[in-house]
Amino acid sequence: MDIIAKLGSPFSKPDFTIGVATSSFQIEGDAEHREKSIWDTFCETPGKIADHSHGLVACEHVKHWESDIDIIDALNVDAYRFSVSWPRVIRQDGSVNDDGLAFYIGLLDRLIEKGIRPYVTLYHWDLPQYLEDEGGWLNRQTAYAFEKYAEVVVKAFGNRVYSYATLNEPFCSAYLGYEVGIHAPGMVGKEFGKKAIHHLLLAHGLAMRVLREHAPTIESGIVLNFTPFYPASNEEKDVIATKLAHDHHNDWYIKPLIHGEYPELIKHIPNAHKPDVHPGDMEVISESIDFLGVNYYTRARVQDNGSEDPHQMPPAEGKETTAMGWEVFPQGLTDLLVQLHRDYTLPPIIITENGLASDDEMTPDGQVKDLQRQRYLNSHMNAVADAMAQGVNITGYFVWSLMDNFEWALGYEKRFGILYVDYDSQVRTLKDSAKSLQAMLVKRKALHNQG
Ligand code: FCB
Repeated sequence: MDIIAKLGSPFSKPDFTIGVATSSFQIEGDAEHREKSIWDTFCETPGKIADHSHGLVACEHVKHWESDIDIIDALNVDAYRFSVSWPRVIRQDGSVNDDGLAFYIGLLDRLIEKGIRPYVTLYHWDLPQYLEDEGGWLNRQTAYAFEKYAEVVVKAFGNRVYSYATLNEPFCSAYLGYEVGIHAPGMVGKEFGKKAIHHLLLAHGLAMRVLREHAPTIESGIVLNFTPFYPASNEEKDVIATKLAHDHHNDWYIKPLIHGEYPELIKHIPNAHKPDVHPGDMEVISESIDFLGVNYYTRARVQDNGSEDPHQMPPAEGKETTAMGWEVFPQGLTDLLVQLHRDYTLPPIIITENGLASDDEMTPDGQVKDLQRQRYLNSHMNAVADAMAQGVNITGYFVWSLMDNFEWALGYEKRFGILYVDYDSQVRTLKDSAKSLQAMLVKRKALHNQG
């Protein structure tokens, strides 16, 4: 099966960026050369990770980074999105770990040498445990610690970086980590989520100012995840519940960034749940961004259940789902992008993550026939192209993920990669999806070279 590459598709244009993505904790390993992160602690806590695994070894990317870059290069992608591990860069005593920085600088230099554009995310959830010990994202000081960390990184990396994202999916850090507790640090309480997100957004704004000062020519922004919500029925109460879910889970994150204010909903939530907003915070948070990263996986249908947390229903009977149990719904991506474009005046959008987990198995002759992933990538790339046809400015698309990796609370059971990783031997094998993406990218390059 071919992945897109239809002549005339925006994906075939030279100015559209196509890449693959990973994150530090999910692939790096080499835990002995960095500080502990909240995810290490979470993994040590019984019952938190489905397969009782941890990120100490992961894909041993720190060991295999050179051959990993060779594979990325062979795929013919334009760009590689990865994240920097904060606990690998700043030690508990506040000093800078030069070896940690050197690892990333070597990686960046090699990417540049190969003509692959580096898209660097400063924070993909691996908060140093020593900061969590002081309250983590519930402590305003963590935002200032992030500002300092960002300055160290940005100064050290210089002009090697093509694009910076401050945070990846602050929804997950705040809501999953501090409100419902299914991610590190595993705190539970309605009074925590919106306080944590305020400090995360503040950290983003402070880091944006650092980027503006020290990397004024590098395009910088933030990556958010969105779930488009649809009412489970036409009944008014479900429609209202759907709007509430949207306000809580989507708008709460984008509105402060673009409009410098939280949604109306802030007036209606109990005082104890409200964020601690200081004068001037919203100006910092709404510092202009050069791009908005959008991560999309699935949609949710919403049913009113009388509570302030509307019920998100499982996919309807007969709908195609992924190994995560998530509905395959490419139209949701088009709808989401069109809605964002309608509701906000946005900078260019980059799809910074899209992909799926499937129960991939290797055949005796070393093939991984991940047909569902090929169909999924195809239909979602077409969904992006549809949104572009409706006027949404989208400049890039990254597949999540380059390789199978540590899928957070689900451990290594869920395989999101276009490369299959054998965790015993650490051998990476191109799944069929990687081969077809590669074929498409080779064809595309040939087209560009013809001029
Ligand atoms: C996103 C995360 C990424 C990965 C994918 C499946 O929420 O950013 O690290 O876990 O989901």
